[in-house]
Amino acid sequence: MKIMVVGGGGREHAIIRKLKENPEVETIYALPGNGGIAADAICVPIGARDIGGAVEFAVANGIGYAVVAPDDPLVLGMCDALTEKGIPCFGPDKRAAIIEGSKAFSKELMKKYGIPTAAYEIFDDSAAALDYVEKAPLPTVIKADGLALGKGVIIAATREEARAAVRSIMDDRRFGASGEKIVIEEFLEGPEVSVLSFTDGKTVVPMVSSMDHKRALDGDNGLNTGGMGTVAPNPYYTKEIADRCMNEIFLPTVRAMNAEGRTFRGCLYFGLMLTAGGPKVIEYNCRFGDPETQVVLPLLESDLFDVMRSVTEGRLSDADVRFSDRHAACVIMASKGYPEEYEKGYGITIGDDVKEHVYVAGASLKDGRLVTSGGRVLGVTATGDSLKEALDTAYSRVEKISFEGAFWRKDIGKRALEAGGIVNGGK
Ligand code: AMP
Ligand code: GLY
Repeated sequence: MKIMVVGGGGREHAIIRKLKENPEVETIYALPGNGGIAADAICVPIGARDIGGAVEFAVANGIGYAVVAPDDPLVLGMCDALTEKGIPCFGPDKRAAIIEGSKAFSKELMKKYGIPTAAYEIFDDSAAALDYVEKAPLPTVIKADGLALGKGVIIAATREEARAAVRSIMDDRRFGASGEKIVIEEFLEGPEVSVLSFTDGKTVVPMVSSMDHKRALDGDNGLNTGGMGTVAPNPYYTKEIADRCMNEIFLPTVRAMNAEGRTFRGCLYFGLMLTAGGPKVIEYNCRFGDPETQVVLPLLESDLFDVMRSVTEGRLSDADVRFSDRHAACVIMASKGYPEEYEKGYGITIGDDVKEHVYVAGASLKDGRLVTSGGRVLGVTATGDSLKEALDTAYSRVEKISFEGAFWRKDIGKRALEAGGIVNGGK
């Protein structure tokens, strides 16, 4: 079968590698893919947001199955458009993708169905929001309603910062139309856990838990990024917490979406905060996380394509979804300057023995050579019998990769290692 994967980052590279393990998969097209993905799939220059282009390509090329990985085409309705043309598609339809597409929607959903989350207020008028931040407890958390490339959340420690955040999102439209509404919410504290799950709207199968490292610099300093590294499982996510999350968050969310006539089928990502008052939802994503996927999929022992089809066909309860008991780590190598300005076009050298453990995110091919083209350039991964082994191996692989201006965090997994002695990662 010919399949296509929409997107062009490290997450898509990890998905494509895993899909290739299925013998029924003959050809994989990546729309648009990237210079590194080109080693594993045929890259087609159609942008991930180009719904018309993707549908036309799929129909013309006899695509038998599509995977839409990024948030924006899902929120824009790419799966609806493909399904209409009879092409089975992994990913939620537009009505369900709103769970990520509008934070106001997801907060109202959680309130209506009693799903634990930070207390909040929604504003569509900056004067009322500015009034509110004068009395809100500090720090306070200000979020643009719509998609904002992972940058739409501001944690304001002072009233002045809070006022500036409201003005920049609502009045200056820093994130465009995503700032028509804002959510202002309670600041939560505790370890963060990412749990990706497969769901067909009836059954929810959580994948192995993971921990992202969002800040650019060691010690969780510097600016927020798309993610500088991940480990799995997350040691804070004990079996007891996992059971609680299933009953208080995962199943109630899937049922709530059904009750709203917005059945979710695909990968539902729960961004959780383990607070003193129990686990609470920080955010929902309607897709695989990046770079969580780069540690979660290497631990999946079952066949990804089979699992995805069982989701699309509504028979996830019969599917074989098994994760290994091992550990995984991913270290992102980025371009100097990221997440702000950075230069592109530097040649990348990757040792032959580590290529299969590298997922490429921001690189293109120039005269047959891989060169940097993005902020997050690639993710270097490893699995191991312990978290320490996975981390040591991943960092030893980083040493075999070079490009001008490469930087990476040296402390991925440090907090997880420190926590590992007290908690047990959901087992
Ligand atoms: P999001 O884009 O919703 O994932 O938010 C980005 C990051 O902001 C999260 O990963 C958290 O670290 C932080 N954050 C979001 N909401 C809150 C909150 N209510 N309290 C504390 N931190 C938060
Ligand atoms: N790593 C966080 C995300 O994918 O949104």
